[in-house]
Amino acid sequence: MRDRPETLTTEAGAPVAQDDISRTAGVGGPTLLEDHHLLEKLARFNRERIPERVVHARGAGAFGFFEVTADVSRWTRAAFLQGVGTRTEVFARFSTVALEAGSADCVRDPRGFAVKFYTREGNYDLVGNNTPIFFIRDAIRFPDFIHSQKRDPVTHLQSADNAWAFFAGTPEATHQMVWLHGDRGLPRSYRHMDGFGTHTFRWTNAAGEGFWVKIHLKTAQGIACLPPAEAVRLAGEAPDHHHADLYDAIDRGDVPSWTMKVQVMPEADAAGTAYDPFDATKIWPYADYPLHEVGRLVLDRNPANYFAEVEQAAFNPAHFVPGIGPSPDRLLQGRLFAYGDAQRYRLGVNHTLLPVNAPRGTVARTYARDGAMRYDGNGGGGPNFRPNDRGGPEPDASLAVPAGHDVSPRPAARTVDDFSQAGALYRLMDEGARQRLVEALAGSLGHVSSAAVREACIGHFRAADAELGARLDALGA
Ligand code: HEM
Repeated sequence: MRDRPETLTTEAGAPVAQDDISRTAGVGGPTLLEDHHLLEKLARFNRERIPERVVHARGAGAFGFFEVTADVSRWTRAAFLQGVGTRTEVFARFSTVALEAGSADCVRDPRGFAVKFYTREGNYDLVGNNTPIFFIRDAIRFPDFIHSQKRDPVTHLQSADNAWAFFAGTPEATHQMVWLHGDRGLPRSYRHMDGFGTHTFRWTNAAGEGFWVKIHLKTAQGIACLPPAEAVRLAGEAPDHHHADLYDAIDRGDVPSWTMKVQVMPEADAAGTAYDPFDATKIWPYADYPLHEVGRLVLDRNPANYFAEVEQAAFNPAHFVPGIGPSPDRLLQGRLFAYGDAQRYRLGVNHTLLPVNAPRGTVARTYARDGAMRYDGNGGGGPNFRPNDRGGPEPDASLAVPAGHDVSPRPAARTVDDFSQAGALYRLMDEGARQRLVEALAGSLGHVSSAAVREACIGHFRAADAELGARLDALGA
């Protein structure tokens, strides 16, 4: 500890003489407009808030590393996945989806599981959830879906009427609704849940061959869930429970980790599977596409400052690196636009320069210039256009996908099946889990005022599994 504290300054660095009372015209007189420190302090305070994320506003994050533990070079050329033992710095953020930054952690909601890999080929962002599937299969429905989950525009309350009315007209959400109302809809902590890329991605190897890939992050802490009554208690008594659990565990050196695994589908299989492999409401059965280990994700360092590193973190599903790319999944395609757009609004056009978002294993070399709050050297004396004659950066043609591998084929048209996998998930549950699922669904459906909406929703569950439908009928849901 220093003998003498450093001198307080204004934001311009000038020493401040008085910080307990404002300057007045004489003793007891009115405050003077010339008290710049007072005005700056009040004005700065008024501007502390920035727009919170439109979804996933509530979250906690941590730094760590990813280490390759198996050879996956036959499927991807991504540099950070080459060589057992290769380590890459990461930042991860976990979140709830529907409510505000100040809302309670222990609610039934999917959890975001976003990981930024600071690779030497630029940042790779895996912006996943703790669920292997999603509610909808096309980005065009996302704003409607989220509106039905968030606060009602009139009452400003979350509304079972809204949520279930949307579901009544959205049979493809049945699979995710069974998942969400099952035990895993209430994870015990961020540490005790799996993560999923959810979408299908396209990995490309050094020879240019493509593979469809689903990414799984399996918790080393084991899956643990909250009984509904405990979740209700924690939401009231300890609304920051998941946030505190992650921070405290890392703080005491009990560092959480996950094993990354992938399901790999040869490109040609996509046309022949019984389900659309690019439909985010579907899983790929393990029997057809088993899990292969890739590496381990370890989170071992808490952020030094929440706002700087967690609130200002910007994950973008369009941030790929060579060897990893998108598939024709229509949900993913919409996300490739939505995140950067949201972040240009939420953080500004230069948000990729912020320390938590800037590449660490390499530097960004672009012709992007100017914009609000451009606080680095703005490209200095380098050219701001190409082609140019001044040695500016050039694209690397060797990274282009070779001819013959550059098309992402849509598989053959299939009959849409929104229910088979939802029913299969129900039938995987033991009797206790089925009973808890039925109680959770009935409890929520019980708040719906429209009998027609309730019946339409139960109809979806009945189509998934007759027994599930009958049990909901029996409870008078
Ligand atoms: C078309 C569908 C979707 C759209 C349009 C969408 C849009 C958004 C937007 C605008 C944000 C806020 C970004 C920010 O301000 O930084 C966000 C956050 C997030 N979304 Fe999505 N989303 C979609 C589907 C999904 C899916 C399917 C997943 C997971 C599988 C997902 C996971 C996340 C996560 C984890 C975050 C929080 C990232 C963080 O921690 O900062 N979203 N989403």
